[in-house]
Amino acid sequence: MATLETTVNGLKLPNPFIIGSGPPGTNANVIGKAFDEGWGGVVAKTISLDSSKVINVAPRYARLKTEKSGEIFGWQNIELISDRPFAVWIDEFKQLKDKYADKIVIASIMEEYNKDAWIEIVEKTQATGIDAFELNFSCPHGLPERKMGAAMGQDCGIMEEVCRWVMSAAKVPVWAKLTPNVTHIQDGCEAALRAGCQGVSAINTILCVTAVNLDTLRPEPTVEGYTTPGGYSCTAVRPIALRMVKECAETIRDKFPNQGRSLSAIGGVESGADAAQFILLGGDTVQVCTGVMKYGYDMVKRMKDELLSFMARHNFETIEQFKGHSLQYFTTHADLVKRQAEAKAAAKARVKGMVTKDSDWQGENFTKQSDALARG
Ligand SMILES: Cc1cc2nc3c(=O)[nH]c(=O)nc-3n(C[C@H](O)[C@H](O)[C@H](O)COP(=O)(O)O)c2cc1C
Repeated sequence: MATLETTVNGLKLPNPFIIGSGPPGTNANVIGKAFDEGWGGVVAKTISLDSSKVINVAPRYARLKTEKSGEIFGWQNIELISDRPFAVWIDEFKQLKDKYADKIVIASIMEEYNKDAWIEIVEKTQATGIDAFELNFSCPHGLPERKMGAAMGQDCGIMEEVCRWVMSAAKVPVWAKLTPNVTHIQDGCEAALRAGCQGVSAINTILCVTAVNLDTLRPEPTVEGYTTPGGYSCTAVRPIALRMVKECAETIRDKFPNQGRSLSAIGGVESGADAAQFILLGGDTVQVCTGVMKYGYDMVKRMKDELLSFMARHNFETIEQFKGHSLQYFTTHADLVKRQAEAKAAAKARVKGMVTKDSDWQGENFTKQSDALARG
């Protein structure tokens, strides 16, 4: 009997579907809703020690839709991390762990480049009983003036140092959430894992400008006539996310083999088929953020059914059986050219009835095949 149950860094998940950090995990009430609907785990909205510095604007989303059906495929946000006080979050994490003891609550944390602050946030947050940490090194728009988020994740040296601070205090698994706004995501992946993090999550949003309004000539989302570039998510980013997840998976496979390092895949997931692709490229778990904002929490039921039917089609019983399976089919362009030339030569030889391997000899055409070999 096939199962979606999976254990990642010792965390027992009923299925690999995890709510990605953002509005769908922004307070205990909605996190509870996610568990009630059957999500395998929740990464809460990113928190920091001092929320008074976090001031959001509205509007803060801009969306792209297909012309014909009006379906949303691209979603920009200029939302910051949680503006709710740290003390409130600490209470809510405790409440959640009391009510949902066997569910996986992952706290997403972010701080300035300050060792004491990182250690304080780790110690106080893990005392609530949360199951794991995700370190937000990847929010592309907010707080660069405080060197937080992507501003930190774009500097592998700083990120490695911060990961070491966190690892010196953390007693639960730690995943570093990587920014896609770099040339080589492998470098950030390697830095975080070298520092001892149990896993990485990828990707956060891609820095973007979604649109310029042709009536007002102002870029969107427009706040008092102005804007700032924001983070792009939703199905439009999925191909880029698949590529980056593949690159992280290869880094784990080649540089940290057989150490149980994990990969949480994120970016434009809306179906079980999307999730299957991320797992085939090495994801242990799959996170969904924007999809929940489009379809609601109960989408997880459909995604679970779809993933199970994909598994049934291929006789896979567990996630482990197909995790990373498709990585073997990537090669260089030069190798594709070589393979194609070889395939064409073999096809030509076949047309001519030419023997290329000893197993090609046939009793009935034996003399013709001999002649063909003489002609060349
Ligand atoms: C409105 C919004 C707010 C977000 N806030 C956070 C956040 O606080 N922390 C974080 O690590 N990622 C945040 N993200 C990024 C998502 O967790 C995710 O990495 C990204 O959106 C790509 O996945 P998706 O296409 O499933 O949304 C946010 C995304 C959106 C759309």
